[in-house]
Amino acid sequence: MSSAQFKFGENLFVLPVVSPTDGYIGIDVSRLRESAGIVTYDNGMANTAVCKSCITYVDGENGILCYRGYDIEDLVEHCSFVEVAYLLVHGKLPTKEELNQFSTYLNEHSMIHEDMQHFFTGFPPNSHPMAILSAMVTSLFSFYPHIMEGDANFDITAARLISKVRTIAAFSYKKSRGQPVVYPRHDLSYCANFLNMMFTSPVKNYEINHHVVKALNQLFILHADHEQNCSTTAVRLVASARGNLYAAISAGISALWGSLHGGANQAVIEMLQMIYDDCGDVPKYVELAKNKENRFRLMGFGHAVYKNYDPRAKIAKTLCDTLLSIINVNDPLLDIALKLEEVALKDDYFISRKLYPNVDFYTGILYRAMGVPTNMLTVMFAIGRLPGWIAQWKETAEQVDGKIIRPRQIYIGPPRSDYIPIDKRS
Ligand code: CMC
Repeated sequence: MSSAQFKFGENLFVLPVVSPTDGYIGIDVSRLRESAGIVTYDNGMANTAVCKSCITYVDGENGILCYRGYDIEDLVEHCSFVEVAYLLVHGKLPTKEELNQFSTYLNEHSMIHEDMQHFFTGFPPNSHPMAILSAMVTSLFSFYPHIMEGDANFDITAARLISKVRTIAAFSYKKSRGQPVVYPRHDLSYCANFLNMMFTSPVKNYEINHHVVKALNQLFILHADHEQNCSTTAVRLVASARGNLYAAISAGISALWGSLHGGANQAVIEMLQMIYDDCGDVPKYVELAKNKENRFRLMGFGHAVYKNYDPRAKIAKTLCDTLLSIINVNDPLLDIALKLEEVALKDDYFISRKLYPNVDFYTGILYRAMGVPTNMLTVMFAIGRLPGWIAQWKETAEQVDGKIIRPRQIYIGPPRSDYIPIDKRS
C-alpha cells in the first residue's frame, strides 16, 4: 500500500504511506495542514511516529524487543554491555579488534577533569544523584567542547561519555557518603570498574564477584535502548535543534528521572517498602491502585507500549531468582514483589487493561542486592541507557532531511480580546 485516503467534509485527501521493516505502517500527515487546513491531535503522541529509526524495534503486543535486529534475550545471554553499546552506536556487532579498541577508549577516557570534582562539593549533602548527574553531564561540554564526527572519531566521543557518566555516578555516591573518590582502573572491565569505584572504601577493598559483574552487564543491556520513549524523545528533541550531545543527554536524564518513566525503579522500592512496613498487606495496595479516587498506582506495572509481559521484566525476574540465591541475599521486598505480581495478574482490573510488570519492577531489587542505594536506582538506569541515547542523538544529528521537532497544538484558551488597562480590571 503506497497511499491512504482521508475524507474530511466533502474533500478527499491522498496521504503518502511510510513502510516499516517491521511493525506499524505510518500515514504521513506532515502536509495535511497545508492541504486540508487541519492538524492531527494525538494526546501524549501515543499514536504518532516522530521519526524513522534503524536502532530499536519494540513489538508491544507480543513482548518483543530488538536492538539493531537482535533479540534482547540473545544479547543478554551472549554479550557484554560494552559490545551492546558498540552495536547500538555503530549498527553492527564489533569484531574482536573493534571491541578492543572501543574498550581501550573507555579506559582512556574514564577520568573526569579534576576541576569537575569541585562541582560535587557545591551540592547540598542530600542532593538527588539524578540532579547531580544531569548537571554534570551538561557541564561536560565546557571541558570537552569538540564532539568528534565521523565513525572512528565518534567512537571516542561515545566512549568518553559512556565512561565518564559511570565515573560521575560513582564519585557522586562517594561524595554523598563523605568518602574519598576511587579512581577508575585500567585492568578492570566496564562493570567491574564501576562496582570497584562504588564500593571500595578507605578501610576495605571491594571484592569483585563475577556473578555480580555479569548481572550488572545484563541489567545495563536491558536498559540500553527502548526506541522513542519519553527520555529518548527529549534527547532527539534537543538534537533536532542541533543541540550538542551533552545537553541532549542531560535532557534525557531529566526526563528519565520522572516517576512514570525511569524514576519508577526508585518508586517501586519505596512502594514495596511501604507495603512491607504495613505488615505486607498486598491486597490492600492492589485495591488502592484500582481506586480512581486517589493517584496511587502500582509502580513498575503497566507500559505505554507493552500490552504483554515486558520482556525485560521477564529477564530481570529470572535474574533476581538466580543472583540473589548465588550471592546469598534474602530480600523480603522480593517476596512482596512476587506476591504483588501474583495478586495483580489474577485481578480483572489488571487483566482487562493488560497491565503487567515492566522493566522497573524487579531491577531495583537486583541493584539493591549489589549494594546500590535506593536514590541511585534511576542513575543505574541512566548509565545503561547512555548508548541508546547516544545512538539516537547521532541518528537525529545525521539525518540530512532532519527537521526541528516542533509539534502543533489545539488552542483551548481564551479568545482574542482587547487589552484592559490596569485601572479597569476587576
Ligand atoms: N496501576 C494502576 N492502574 C494503572 C497502572 C498502574 N501501574 N498503569 C496504568 N493503569 C490504568 C490507568 O489508570 C488507566 O485506567 P483507566 O482506563 O480506567 O483510566 C489504564 O490503566 C491505562 O493507563 P494509561 O495511563 O492510559 O496508560 P499509559 O500507557 O499511558 O501509561 C504508564 C503507561 C507506564 C505511565 C502507566 O502504566 C504507569 O503509570 N505505570 C506506573 C509507573 C511505571 O511503572 N513506569 C515505568 C514504565 S517502564 C520504564 C520506562 O519508562 O521505560
